[in-house]
Order: sequence, then structure tokens, then C-alpha cells
Amino acid sequence: MKDIIVLGVESSCDETAAAVVRNGREVLSNVISSQIDIHQKFGGVVPEVASRKHVELVIPVIDQALEEARIKLEDVDVIGVTYGPGLVGALLVGLSAAKALAFAANKPFVGVHHIEGHIAANYLEYPDLEPPFVCLVASGGHSHIVYVGDYNKFEIMGQTRDDAAGEAFDKVARAIGLGYPGGPLIDKAAKSGNKNAIAFPRVLFEDGSLDFSFSGLKTAVLNYLNTAEQKGEKIIVEDVAASFQQAVVDVLVRNVIEAGKQKGVKNIALAGGVAANSALRSGLKAAAEEYGFSVRYPKPVLCTDNAAMIACAAYYEYRSGSASELDLNAIPGLKLGER
Ligand code: KG4
Ligand code: ZN
Repeated sequence: MKDIIVLGVESSCDETAAAVVRNGREVLSNVISSQIDIHQKFGGVVPEVASRKHVELVIPVIDQALEEARIKLEDVDVIGVTYGPGLVGALLVGLSAAKALAFAANKPFVGVHHIEGHIAANYLEYPDLEPPFVCLVASGGHSHIVYVGDYNKFEIMGQTRDDAAGEAFDKVARAIGLGYPGGPLIDKAAKSGNKNAIAFPRVLFEDGSLDFSFSGLKTAVLNYLNTAEQKGEKIIVEDVAASFQQAVVDVLVRNVIEAGKQKGVKNIALAGGVAANSALRSGLKAAAEEYGFSVRYPKPVLCTDNAAMIACAAYYEYRSGSASELDLNAIPGLKLGER
């Protein structure tokens, strides 16, 4: 069969990214230009600033992805791009660039759901991985447990009722003075902390739901910090980081294992920025062993936002016959499984 080369583009938040992937599995290039330095001084992503940076970067990043893959635009078979969910101004930049290229070069064009992209990162890491499996997608904007029934069949089994897991990491990191983005900084600080030092709450819903809630945990951390300050007690940042992280990990692991049991799958996968968390990876591995699940997770660079995962998801959409029209608009609140 002839190779299918997909050019992927991603600009839903604060990374401008482009990548080239062969046959949905082989990464030929993966260029990511992060705006973290710019947003760091504001303590989070400023949407208008993000959009302006995407405009500056999108074409150079695409050019670099083609160059590193040693191909020309003519050699590309399909162009895939994130069209939601995300920041509308940011999404529009990548989407418009991808549509313009598809139109100019007369190539099929596929709009990709950002979360489907995160899930697809696992196909890049494990060339033999096939659905069905259960995937925990945890990022700055999402915490979902998804049953991946097939390459383009998704069922949400649980989701956050308030904050996303990554959002909780970012807010707690700011409160304990670690900075932005919080996830990697808490992960690092927690390594030298005691995860049993402070008993933070683990919210589990009694109705059998696999949903999450992290806002109570965030408030508990803030209350702990206030009380300690008022009493003049020393705050050990590493202990707060480790205890908070363990509370998040315990709930994520418990629910995704439960989802795996309900569906009777062999594999449980992780995806999204929080999937880079070392305690989540080891915690899930340990729990999974007990129930006979295999655990899959992409390398950190494929967990956080990138375009290789978007190219991979676009490949499977395209193969299933669903190319998009050029009037496709950005959908900031796009739901999983919707097209
Ligand atoms: O997937 P992603 O790059 O962007 C979104 O789609 O949101 O995820 C970014 C999120 C941030 O909240 C960041 O703090 C978190 O992922 N993150 C981590 C780690 N690395 C990134 N959270 C916990 N531990 C990490 N090692
Ligand atoms: Zn993401």
C-alpha cells in the first residue's frame, strides 16, 4: 500500500506546533515552539498574546516541520489540524493556515478534536497498540476517562465536574510559590517531599460515577497554607507538593482502573500534559499490575501539546473516510465524539 504522509498543525493553547507523520505511526518531524517564557510572567496563558504569537510562528514552524522531515508540501497527502476545543483566537490561527495550505496545494484536509489527538499520541509511542482500550486524558483543560472502542469511536466514562487535573496542579503550584506551568514543578518538588505529610481530601462520588472533582482539594491546600501561616508554622513546600500530588494521583488511578474493569480491556493508557507526571505513571503501573492491565503512556514530549498526535488522529479520520470541508470553523467548546 502507498504511504500516507500527514502534515499536522496544532495551535489550541500556548504551543505552536507542526509535525509530519507517516502512516499514522511514524514521526518524521515534530516541531514545537512553546510560548511558556512569554506567559510565565503573567502566571498563565493570556489568550490575546497567544494568538499574536501563533500568527508570527505558524508558517516558520510548518516550514521547519517539512524541512526536518525532508519533504515538500507536494509530498504531503493529508493536512490535519486541531479545530477545537481550545482558545478560539489561538485555534483560528492554525486552522486558517492549514486550510490555506490545503486549498493552495489541493490536498485533503481533516479537522481534529484536540483530545482525540492526545489519545492518538499512544499510537505513536506503541506501533502495535490498537483499540479497544481505556484512556485517562488529563491536561490543563481536561480530565476525562475515555473508552476508545475504535480509532474513531469514543465514549466518555467520567470527567471533571469542576477543575481539570492540570489546572489544579497549576493553581496549587502558584499558591506554594513554584510558578508556571505548575505540573512539572510540583512533580519535581514532590520527589523530595513526604506524600503522607498532610492528609488532603480525595473526592469520590457515591453514585458509582467515575467523575472527578479537584476544586475542593485545591481549597484544602489553600486553607492549609493560610492556617499554617496564621499559626506561624513553617510550610515545607516539598511536603505540600507531594501530599497534593498523591491526592490527585489516588483519585485518577482509582477511577481509571474501575473504568478498565467495567470495560474488561487489556490496556489502560494515559494522555495529556498530566500524563507526564511521574507519580501518576508509577501509581497507575502499580495498581494495574494487581488487576492484570498493561499500562501505556507516551513519552513526555508527546504528552504535552504537539502536532504529531494531531497528524496521527487525522490519519485515522482520513482512513475512515471523514475529510473536512474548507468552511470548517474553530469550535472552542467542541465535545468529544462530535464532528
Ligand atoms: O496537554 P497540555 O500540554 O495542554 C492542554 O491541552 O491543556 O497540558 C498542560 C498541563 C498543564 O496544566 C501542566 O501543568 C500539566 O499539563 N503538566 C503536568 C506535568 N507536565 C505537564 N502535570 C503534572 N505533572 C507533570 N509532570
Ligand atoms: Zn492539550
